[in-house]
Amino acid sequence: MKFEIFELERNQSLYENEVDYNLSESGVHPLALSEILTKDEQREILNLEQFYGYTNGSPNLRLRIAEMYGDSFSIENVLITSGSAEANFLSVMTQLEAGDELIYMVPNYPQIFSLARSFGIILKELPIREELDWQWDLDEVKAMVTSKTKMIAVCNPNNPTGAVMSDEVMNGVIAISEEANCWLLSDEVYRGAELNGIECRSFAGATDKTVVNAGLSKAYSLPGLRMGWSVGSKEYINRAWSFHDYTVINVAYLSDWVASRIMTYDRRMKILNRTKTHLNHNLDMLIRWAENVPGLTVTRPQAAAITFARLNIDMPSENFVYKLRDNFSVLITAGKWHCLEGYVRIGYGTPADYVQNGLDRIADFIDSL
Ligand SMILES: Cc1ncc(COP(=O)(O)O)c(C=O)c1O
Repeated sequence: MKFEIFELERNQSLYENEVDYNLSESGVHPLALSEILTKDEQREILNLEQFYGYTNGSPNLRLRIAEMYGDSFSIENVLITSGSAEANFLSVMTQLEAGDELIYMVPNYPQIFSLARSFGIILKELPIREELDWQWDLDEVKAMVTSKTKMIAVCNPNNPTGAVMSDEVMNGVIAISEEANCWLLSDEVYRGAELNGIECRSFAGATDKTVVNAGLSKAYSLPGLRMGWSVGSKEYINRAWSFHDYTVINVAYLSDWVASRIMTYDRRMKILNRTKTHLNHNLDMLIRWAENVPGLTVTRPQAAAITFARLNIDMPSENFVYKLRDNFSVLITAGKWHCLEGYVRIGYGTPADYVQNGLDRIADFIDSL
């Protein structure tokens, strides 16, 4: 099979550990286990026998996740996956076939985009528009639906813009997917990383064919656990679980164990509060910095540790990123890799000094042009 290279991930994989300043990350600087586990738990973890565990996730953990989405969800509505990346993969593999149409939000984290195209699924890109505060125009969504539309895929809060979908647009998207009787897939891995500290509305349960994928890598600052999940109907969860037998069997026993403990309401709120404080502090710094950098227009995102800055320099985004990387040893991501040219994404989730040093180098680079 021929598959498309996932440019965003490939560029990060190759260079994120090589540059002096990696501002290509979209999440918050990772937590250490000592920051999230009690002393007793830390002692306990050393003596844990490393079983496979439950292949669909331990009942404890699935209960914690189900609780996050409200009373109408039970453990049977939850599958634990290896990152939200696996959850997204399963959604495409279990529900779509070559020739099906997928309406896809851009700009985005284009995992589903490249994967689906590789399988012959027809990708219909629909931009969220900066002039609409990075919202969809519902008339455009309606106009894109045909009898072949099998799925509408959104990323909310959005990567790379950090925009949160408005209630009006959400209600419209739900109504349109209901009428089209198609899957509504919502990647919500940035939910919980809102700058105002209020978790945005989830699509979970919006229709019988809604699937929400999320995980601990971004808002919860724990990407190394590789912990993700899907929330959907029992039928969907069973089908995705059957495919998951072929992908990773189950997530690491250790990750499931840790997540089961920290995903109680109080403990997860503690982590999300740290996220909010850190992001607000760094974002203020970034906005102040941008005032003196005319080469970029930076606007305040509503969520996530990223800003999608407009390039006011006549240069393809990829060239800008490569030159910055090769000459100033700073890595950011190109608009092109998020399916929208003319922008670059800057991550500001790392420690403040580190972000500031990286930003100073970006300013030096722009001065040098
Ligand atoms: C929107 C979105 N979905 C999914 C992922 C994959 O994340 P993970 O597998 O670590 O949960 C990312 C990573 O950047 C992302 O931005």
